[in-house]
Amino acid sequence: MHSTFMASKMGPLIVMLIFFTLWASPAISSNSEGNALNAFKMRLSDPNNVLQTWDPTLVNPCLWFHITCDSQNRVIRIDLGNANLTGRLGAELGRLQHLQYLELYVNNFQGTIPKNLGNLKNLVSFDLYGNKFKGEIPKSFAKLKSLIFLRLDNNKLTGPIPRELDSLSRLEVLDVSKNDLCGTIPPGLFSRFAPPSFYNNPRLKGPEKGPVPYNFGC
Ligand SMILES: *[C@@H]1O[C@H](CO)[C@@H](O)[C@H](O)[C@H]1NC(C)=O
Repeated sequence: MHSTFMASKMGPLIVMLIFFTLWASPAISSNSEGNALNAFKMRLSDPNNVLQTWDPTLVNPCLWFHITCDSQNRVIRIDLGNANLTGRLGAELGRLQHLQYLELYVNNFQGTIPKNLGNLKNLVSFDLYGNKFKGEIPKSFAKLKSLIFLRLDNNKLTGPIPRELDSLSRLEVLDVSKNDLCGTIPPGLFSRFAPPSFYNNPRLKGPEKGPVPYNFGC
């Protein structure tokens, strides 16, 4: 009698405990990362089948080719440079909160760069060079406080260089050459990076001086 009473009391508690454990476990959170990566894949045309191993029914994406996870099965790298991929980026990659390396260089990515990639606060290296990205460099990139490498060269980017990027204190390599940027170069950035970082933007003026607005001529 007593033990039946205990079981009926404890039952719901145990169920709740199991739910909480599942909800909090890394496997489940990496599966949400797998879902984000699968949403990214669904936008792409992949003639060379480089994303063939991206099976969304696996528990997490850590065994997929071109993906690297840390010891807690959280995605820290996407390596898809030179992969002959075509398509647009959506907001989903901004959900990969632990991402450190986003390497999408030399493909045929098009469209604008999603603002919410500025949420990737652990990102160290961000390489989008050699694609067909258009539109402006998002101001939200100023939130990428871990960033050391930012290479956006060889695209079709327009608009001014956001002066907010000057707050990226860890940045060591910046390349925005071969785009169609305009305006002036924020003085802090200009003094930290050599001119080749900015070459081949016919409408981009030199460093900002005096009262000239940074979007002069845009
Ligand atoms: C890239 O994909 C296209 C088809 O879209 C194909 O014709 C071409 O050979 C591929 N290039 C490489 C280097 O694999």
